[in-house]
Amino acid sequence: MTELSTQDLWNVDIMGQKRIGILTSGGDCAGLNAAIRAVVHSAVNTYGWEVLGIRQATQGLMARPPEAVLLTPDKINPYLTTGGTMLGTTNKGNPFAFPMPDGSVCDRAEEIIEGYHLLGLNALIGIGGDGSLAILRRLAQQGGLNLVGIPKTIDNDVGVTECSIGFDTAVSVATEAVDRLQFTAASHNRVMILEVMGRDAGHIAMCAGIAGGADIILIPEIPYTIDGICQTIKNRQQQGKNYCLLVVAEAVRTEHGDRVVIKDNPEQCRLGGIGHYLSEQICQRINAEARVTVLGHIQRGGMPSHLDRLIATAFGVAAVELIAKERYDQVVIWQNRHVASVPIEDAIANYSAVNPHGTLATTAQRMGIFLGS
Ligand code: F6P
Repeated sequence: MTELSTQDLWNVDIMGQKRIGILTSGGDCAGLNAAIRAVVHSAVNTYGWEVLGIRQATQGLMARPPEAVLLTPDKINPYLTTGGTMLGTTNKGNPFAFPMPDGSVCDRAEEIIEGYHLLGLNALIGIGGDGSLAILRRLAQQGGLNLVGIPKTIDNDVGVTECSIGFDTAVSVATEAVDRLQFTAASHNRVMILEVMGRDAGHIAMCAGIAGGADIILIPEIPYTIDGICQTIKNRQQQGKNYCLLVVAEAVRTEHGDRVVIKDNPEQCRLGGIGHYLSEQICQRINAEARVTVLGHIQRGGMPSHLDRLIATAFGVAAVELIAKERYDQVVIWQNRHVASVPIEDAIANYSAVNPHGTLATTAQRMGIFLGS
């Protein structure tokens, strides 16, 4: 791992002109525009390069002519505080097995590689989670593209970085939801179940549950029983606590180990429904009234938190610096209050789940929060 310093920034030959591309890939999240803005500022103002924003992830490079816009600091400035991605994105359509209208799949990698060259790019910054980074790296290797990655995902499951763009905002939104549910739960003597996103990692549930003062947090990394949940609710009732707040991560399985999905498709199954399953089970077994809130995409939208803007900005500047030094196939990461970089290969290989014996799990347990077994 190499730490990047501001000092190094000025040691790069500023006479070398470049045209770089930037794209966002995978699910959107808050803070993407802040990262794009930082890349544009840094590339244009520090190095005098041109930045092309590629539309709809790799699909913009597949289109003919390629779909890209020239990004300038004055154009991008107002986007700092906005959610979503000004470039558009997609979490479907793996270019190596691209779904065609007739139902067949087609390898369209070469079209994307050609699109990069048609735009005359010297390098490409890809902002994505582990899945997108893996696809972009494969394209880069096949086509000799100069790729630098920036990690983003509300799931925070890219293991090499302490945080990815979007996670902090998602946790803030989920925490606010727990805060709000507490009042209505207490008013009606109810069990309030909040289902949050995160795919197979329980980071959002764990962080928002602790920060919001939940009584029960269920994450995919820790098994549970319905009896354990019911006992926790009954204990609270016996202590005169008339309500209970339960935060559950979307990938938590049923007591019998079945995945709860809205729709299963070969590309990406849509998780959802565990909150309602728990509600039914609890109400069948004990005298309690439960209500379910599925927070959904509210966690991804809206204004980025100050931390997401900060990390996104630092990542954007560092990504440009890597290109200036021609250090490709790297992804920028956040570690110990510094931006550093590691090979993209390491970022893809290191998946981060919640450690059931880590600081947060221990903190939750000591605070009397039921986590399952
Ligand atoms: O990976 C980010 C994420 O928001 C997950 O937490 C969630 O399961 C999924 O994307 C939702 O995807 P979609 O936007 O396709 O519904």
